[in-house]
Amino acid sequence: MNILITGGAGFVGSHLTDLLIRNGHKVTVIDNFSYGRKSLLPVSDRLTVFEGDILDSDFLNSVFSSSTYQLIFHLAAIHHIPTCENDPATAIRTNIEGTQRVLEAAVIAGIPKIVFASSGAVYDTVDIPLAEDSTPIVAHDIYSITKLAGEHLLRLQAERGRLTAVACRLFNTVGSHETNEHLVPDILKQVKKGVEVIQLGNLTPLRSYIHVKDVAEGFYAAGTSSFENTFETINIGTETEHSVVDILELIAEISARPLKALQDPSKVRKVDRPRQFASIEKTTRLTGWHPKRTLKEALTDAYIESLNG
Ligand SMILES: NC(=O)c1ccc[n+]([C@@H]2O[C@H](COP(=O)([O-])OP(=O)(O)OC[C@H]3O[C@@H](n4cnc5c(N)ncnc54)[C@H](O)[C@@H]3O)[C@@H](O)[C@H]2O)c1
Repeated sequence: MNILITGGAGFVGSHLTDLLIRNGHKVTVIDNFSYGRKSLLPVSDRLTVFEGDILDSDFLNSVFSSSTYQLIFHLAAIHHIPTCENDPATAIRTNIEGTQRVLEAAVIAGIPKIVFASSGAVYDTVDIPLAEDSTPIVAHDIYSITKLAGEHLLRLQAERGRLTAVACRLFNTVGSHETNEHLVPDILKQVKKGVEVIQLGNLTPLRSYIHVKDVAEGFYAAGTSSFENTFETINIGTETEHSVVDILELIAEISARPLKALQDPSKVRKVDRPRQFASIEKTTRLTGWHPKRTLKEALTDAYIESLNG
């Protein structure tokens, strides 16, 4: 297949690009390199990279019409929740207006299918496995509002018969190539400096952490499976939960260091959810995908990369 990826040089996008290339596809990456890096991308004569912004429709139209594409993965976004809270206007422009511009360019170019990186953050804060068609959807922060709006924009185009669309609701992703200041890079930065009492924000939230290579395989399954509905939402997560303290204990084991957690009030997020726990029954039923790797493997990959970085 001939495939486009926006945000293809980022954390998830670079692993997805690698997977697609290894499966014999031709891949075109669009990225403005605000977070992503060229060095994260594989070297291949089946890979083309265009530097540009998803807010620039002329740029999108020229790339989208440069070849006949069968599929687009739309991952470009401002993803870090505190960054979205500090600059809502930029997050709204990039994540909502940018998604609309990508959709318009895809429709003009006649690309038949789009797979969108949405988030588990669109679910209401409830104490049950979060399931696509039964858990209430309530966006509690700017980032989730932008992801929910993106899903609606996709659904609208799909309902109007212009393309088929899948929104993948990702849960907390861990592994190498991390570009944002999330929990794991923060811990690994301190470990690399020799710190053993690790200063952290919120210690108790439980999350469905997932290996970035499993996420890439989930996107691939979403892109290559046929769905009955023209618009579908699927979770890409794990059905196991871990706390921040569990993560620290695993990193202590991997690095063979006696790490301890200390809460730093300046790092505590004002907007946070106590629990975010995915159900993946629907995704497995519709695509056959299920995660294959452990959190320890994901943390080991990130740890090894941090030693070399
Ligand atoms: N990593 C996670 O845990 C997670 C969880 C849920 C959802 N997601 C979603 O998955 C997608 C990928 O996330 P990620 O972790 O790889 O983040 P990332 O920041 O590494 O990737 C986003 C990429 O988009 C690019 N980009 C940003 N604005 C752009 C613009 N205006 N024009 C062109 N390119 C632009 C960045 O340079 C970056 O390479 C995002 O949409 C994110 O919201 C990620």
